[in-house]
Order: sequence, then C-alpha cells, then structure tokens
Amino acid sequence: MTDDHTPSRLDNDLLLRALLRKPIPRTPVWMMRQAGRYLPEYRESRKRAGGFLDLCQNTELACEVTLQPLERYPLDAAILFSDILTIPHAMGLGLYFAEGEGPKFERPLRTEADIRSLAVPDPADSLRYVTDAVSMIRRELKGRVPLIGFSGSPWTLATYMIEGGSSKNFAHTKALLYGRPDLMHQLLETLGKAVTAYLNAQVEAGAQALMIFDTWGGVLTPATYREFSVGPARKIIAGLTRKRDNRTVPVVFFTKNGGAWLEEAATTGADGLGCDWTQDLGDARRRVGHRVSLQGNLDPSALYAPPAAIRAQVAEVLASYGHGSGHVFNLGHGIHPEVNPDHAAAMIEAVHALSPRYHGDHAGD
Ligand code: CP3
Repeated sequence: MTDDHTPSRLDNDLLLRALLRKPIPRTPVWMMRQAGRYLPEYRESRKRAGGFLDLCQNTELACEVTLQPLERYPLDAAILFSDILTIPHAMGLGLYFAEGEGPKFERPLRTEADIRSLAVPDPADSLRYVTDAVSMIRRELKGRVPLIGFSGSPWTLATYMIEGGSSKNFAHTKALLYGRPDLMHQLLETLGKAVTAYLNAQVEAGAQALMIFDTWGGVLTPATYREFSVGPARKIIAGLTRKRDNRTVPVVFFTKNGGAWLEEAATTGADGLGCDWTQDLGDARRRVGHRVSLQGNLDPSALYAPPAAIRAQVAEVLASYGHGSGHVFNLGHGIHPEVNPDHAAAMIEAVHALSPRYHGDHAGD
C-alpha cells in the first residue's frame, strides 16, 4: 500500500488493475479522444488557445482540457491531451493543421537524405511542453484516477511523415517499404529511439500507463505488419520504464484494423491490446486473453443512437468479453465530434451499472 500523503497515492486504480488482469469490482472505462470537439468546453478552450497545436503547447490549457471530461463523467482514467505528431514536429517537419483537413507537414520526407539526416529529439528540450503538461495534470488530478501517456507507433508516425499528412493509399510510404526496405528500417529505427525516450520522459513526469497508437498498422500485410509495425513496437516496449513509485506502468498497443493479427501483436510485450469494433472481444480473449488484457471496443458510431440503444450495445460488449478481469471498456476508436455529450454519459453509466456482474462473487471464473 502507498502512503496516503505521497504524491503517488491513487484513489482509483481500476484501469491499472484491469490492464494487469488483477481482480476488480467492475470494468474501468475511458474514451479515446475523450477531450475533444464533441465537448463545448473543449471548443471554447481551443478557441482561447488559438488553434489545436497552440492548445497542445499551452501547459495550462492542455491540462484544463485533459480534465474536462473528468469533470463531466465518472471516468476511470485521464489521457494526456496532446497529439501523436509532436515527435515529427520536434524533428523539424513543420506540423500544421489546416482547418477541416487534418494534420499536414511543411517538410515531408521525400529523399534518402531527408531520412538520413533525422535526429532523435531530446524530450527535455523540444518536447518539454508535453512533459510539463504531464506534471501539471498529475498535480491537478490529485490521485483521482491514473494518467495515461501515449505516442504513435513508429510505423504510424512514418506514414504521416512520408505522405505529409493523412493518406488513402500510402503511395509514397509503400513505395519506400517495398522499394527500399533498408531505408524504411532506418527511419523506423530513428523513430523507435525517439518514441522510447519520449514515453520514458512521460513516465518520469508522472504518466502511470502508456498507450502506443498504431493507427495505420492495419494497412500492412501479415508479413510487413510483423516486420515494420510489431518489430519496432517490441523494441520500444523492451526499452520502457515499467516500474515507477512501486507500481507497474502498463502498456497498451493498439493496431487499428489489426484484428486478424492479435497473436502477433501479443508478442510485443504489451500488457494490453486495443481492439477496434470489427473484432469480437470473446474471440479475441480466447486467442490472446491468457497473455494480455483487452481494451475496447464499442463502435464509436453507436453513440449516435439514443441512450437505450447505447445501453444495449454496452451490454453486448461486456457480455462478449465475459467474466473476470482483463477488460478495459473503451470505444473502438476516437469519439466522433458530432456526438451528443449526454450519449457518452449514457455509455459510461451503463458500464458502471452492468459490469459488476462480471466481477467478484459474480464472476464465473
Ligand atoms: O484521446 C485523447 O483524448 C487524447 C488526445 C489525442 C488527440 N490525438 C487529440 C486530438 C490523442 C491520443 C491523439 C492521437 C492521434 N493523433 C492519433 C492516434 C489515434 C487515432 O485517432 O487513431 C492520430 C492518428 C493523430 C493525428 C491526428 N491528430 C489527426 C488525424 C487529427 C485530425 C482528426 C480530425 O478529426 O480532424 C488530429 C487532431 C486532433 N488530435 C484533434 C484532437 C482532439 C482534433 C483537432 C481539433 O481540435 O481541431
């Protein structure tokens, strides 16, 4: 037990326990993009900051929006408000967000020299605004719930850096992967070092769990997924600080559209795997649940429906995982900007109401 007066005291450690598959009285719940445009108070803070990137780089406002969803809902985790593209920005690619167009880079990677000249950013220097936000959020949370830090996977970061933004066919990225696999490996190696240092700096600043977003791992083939997504992720996870303040810092690896390759993802050394809504949690659990916990996977679009329908969908997700620990309730991807905030409340309430029967004395395992 930790002392009540230490800064590492935690009132609610359901998330950490579930990720490590330890007994819990109910299923913890948080939402990807829980601080986002569906909340009017978020839109207000973003306006005050000037823009999305200004919001990420303003310590007070990043802290403020991180806590907004926790003021509204009984969530079991906070997630650092930032973006996965902070690393390429710190590498000098010039990140900007054009209104309604998503992220873009002024200087995408186009030549061998571009890739070879990339340097690993020192998190204490060009990413200091992120670790400052982590420290402030931890102070403001006062031990209510754990704080999740995160990064993109090297593969996912590489796609944005090479394409210069979001992409449909990943033409430049795949041309490099198949045409110059040596150069792709060099890029992923540099990014892997950057991600490891960045995540460790977040833990040092106070992050109590980590998530690696492999948003575009699902566009690979089975063999290239193993080589270009899982390989680098395994190396990162082996290099992470896994113990802090006498607690394990669990790591979640989330490959969107990676349901076919869960066994492979489970070899990364992650404690938990993110699941999108195309997967059945029961199947996923039978395949890998003896090795990892699972996080997900309500279809984010279910939140467009009225509360009674949302409750029914929550019940299905909980039932599909079944009895016992090892499940963190979440959406299968980020919450959509048009969702009514009351519908998110309905989802969270339903998890609180319906999940205890899958734990403790009620548990069938
Ligand atoms: O989950 C959270 O609440 C933490 C915050 C968070 C954001 N981005 C805030 C954000 C996290 C964890 C991310 C990760 C991220 N960013 C990913 C991986 C997760 C995923 O969604 O698959 C990716 C691919 C990015 C890159 C990125 N950032 C994109 C593609 C976009 C545009 C999306 C859109 O809908 O316009 C962003 C911008 C972004 N990141 C927003 C938020 C709240 C919206 C920006 C705004 O306020 O205008």
